[in-house]
Amino acid sequence: MTYQPQFSRADVTPQNLFLNRRALLAGAAALSVAGPALAASPYSTDEAPNSFEDITTYNNYYEFGYDKSDPAAYAGSLKTDPWSVVVDGLVDNPGTYSLADLIADQPIEERIYRFRCVEAWSMIVPWQGFQLSGLLNKLGVQAGAKYVAFETVVRPDEMPGISGGMIDWPYREGLRLDEAMHPLTIMATGLYGKPMPNQNGAPIRLIVPWKYGFKSVKSIVRISLIAEQPVTTWNTLAANEYGFYANVNPTVDHPRWSQASERRIGGGLFSGRVDTLMFNGYGDQVASLYAGQDLTKDY
Ligand code: MTE
Repeated sequence: MTYQPQFSRADVTPQNLFLNRRALLAGAAALSVAGPALAASPYSTDEAPNSFEDITTYNNYYEFGYDKSDPAAYAGSLKTDPWSVVVDGLVDNPGTYSLADLIADQPIEERIYRFRCVEAWSMIVPWQGFQLSGLLNKLGVQAGAKYVAFETVVRPDEMPGISGGMIDWPYREGLRLDEAMHPLTIMATGLYGKPMPNQNGAPIRLIVPWKYGFKSVKSIVRISLIAEQPVTTWNTLAANEYGFYANVNPTVDHPRWSQASERRIGGGLFSGRVDTLMFNGYGDQVASLYAGQDLTKDY
């Protein structure tokens, strides 16, 4: 079945936290006036998305284990309602927000993005979410803030991968403020027209499509506006392998493997390999963010 990028009538229910009121109204209006499809985002790729099955059964979410199948097997235990997010640091409106309050006035839209893991596999994913810039503007970023830091929830009782292993939890990631404010950077609350599956980072995660997937931190409970570059999980574990920037770059290999091409999940045994694109194909939109930087050093 070919996925049609649109919200279906079944999604337009008040119970669906991942659609806010404005999107509900827009969706209802679109349904009644112009048929079921919302306007496709100019930021979406027209490549065919991977199947829901691909996207929800081949995951990295180490809090639930290290195998690709572990998140689908174990993430069901994560309780995502109620959910709150701490906002702190150099921001006008700090506080502990319920998820509903945090995202209440953010316009949810569909973004079909290429998603490239540093392990050299990729997928096409139809996310639902809103631009992080809209949230940051609502929170009021103060003049001294230069970076945004994110943390994932830590619940050993619900996350069997937390005990043992080498990661110093919580999983942490961060962006420079101009990266965070870029219109391609979204906070995703769903995929394929459904609320975010737990294994993909329910109820809310970051998506930065021009960067390796490890930047796209899942199940966020803390957003901090800070002056200095934040400590991040994979950069701390192996700085020579995982840079802070982590921009997709086919000319800078991982020390242990080439980044020149990638295995497109679901592409079949022999047909699944595709060339990796600079900035994952989003160079026209984002290359200017890095003008003057040496991307072999700032990898
Ligand atoms: N976020 C948390 N909290 N824990 C993780 O292990 N893995 C990262 C990123 N976000 C990870 C995370 C990595 S390495 C990738 S490639 C993507 O999530 C995978 O996202 P997906 O499972 O939705 O494809």
